[in-house]
Amino acid sequence: MAVSKVFCADLELMNIMIEEEVDYLADSRIENLKGISSDIPKVLLRLPSISFAEDVVRHSDISLNSEIETIRVLNKYAKEQNKIHGVILMIDLGDLREGIFRKDEVFETIEHVTKLNHIKLSGIGTNLTCYGGVIPTHDKLVELVDFKTEIEQKFNLKLDIISGGNSSDLELVIEDRIPFGINNIRLGEGIVLGRETAYGTYLENMYLDVFTLEAEIIELKEKPSVPIGEIGMNAFGKIPTFIDKGTRLRAILAIGKQDVDHGELIPIDLIQILGSSSDHLIVDVSESNKLFEVGDILKFRLTYGSILSLMTSKYVGKHYE
Ligand SMILES: Cc1ncc(COP(=O)(O)O)c(C=O)c1O
Repeated sequence: MAVSKVFCADLELMNIMIEEEVDYLADSRIENLKGISSDIPKVLLRLPSISFAEDVVRHSDISLNSEIETIRVLNKYAKEQNKIHGVILMIDLGDLREGIFRKDEVFETIEHVTKLNHIKLSGIGTNLTCYGGVIPTHDKLVELVDFKTEIEQKFNLKLDIISGGNSSDLELVIEDRIPFGINNIRLGEGIVLGRETAYGTYLENMYLDVFTLEAEIIELKEKPSVPIGEIGMNAFGKIPTFIDKGTRLRAILAIGKQDVDHGELIPIDLIQILGSSSDHLIVDVSESNKLFEVGDILKFRLTYGSILSLMTSKYVGKHYE
């Protein structure tokens, strides 16, 4: 499953996913899935809110679930919309984010789900690393395969999808150590940043600059490195501290905390990020061998967190090369 939430299901990028003929288009926001038109099945990754269940059935084919109350409401809307909605039942193998934790509850839930006429139990899944940082080892994922075997025997059914997790599974996949029986993973970061997320290792033959931030210099001046006057709180209620490095050449860039956390930006030029306020990013360009001017563009490499917030910001223009 190709996961589009980090780039807010941007349509230009969705078209690439569609051209590549991924098996499923997956996103955590139903608002994003709503905007995608394609024959490829659409999967909602975040557990549906009951208050959005009608839209979930309308704009996705499958959703990840862990609450029978929610699945019953999905069934009601699927009946109204004359559809069969697919459910992947999430099992918590210890990362402690979503999923049913107790084994008896897994079986109880399946018992109920199989009685709902407009719900198809498409499969089971798990999510690791996201909250608790639990690594998807071979043995951990065998636990999911054991659930599959037990469920199929107990209920005399066949589960289509055994979804073993996210980009943190990539090392197992590449080293061919993923347990037999896991036939699906949901990939976001692996696709956009070219790295697996269990250890943060970059993958071979993947581009590392799929997303780049370009920000324009709106002020360029020599100033002292320590503010002058009595120091109180800054715009975010924190009392700032400074190291005196004498007079420095500082640039202000037209981007700020409203768009991105400056700690998640990786400068390409030899500059130092000093800080930011809502709409301004302040950098020290004294060490750079380039002669900058007002109006010049500085480029930054990005992390998962910065791609997420920059793509979400309506103030950041998106250009494609
Ligand atoms: C349930 C679920 N599966 C998979 C993913 C994709 O994770 P990653 O970007 O690490 O591949 C996410 C997050 O986007 C998620 O919430």
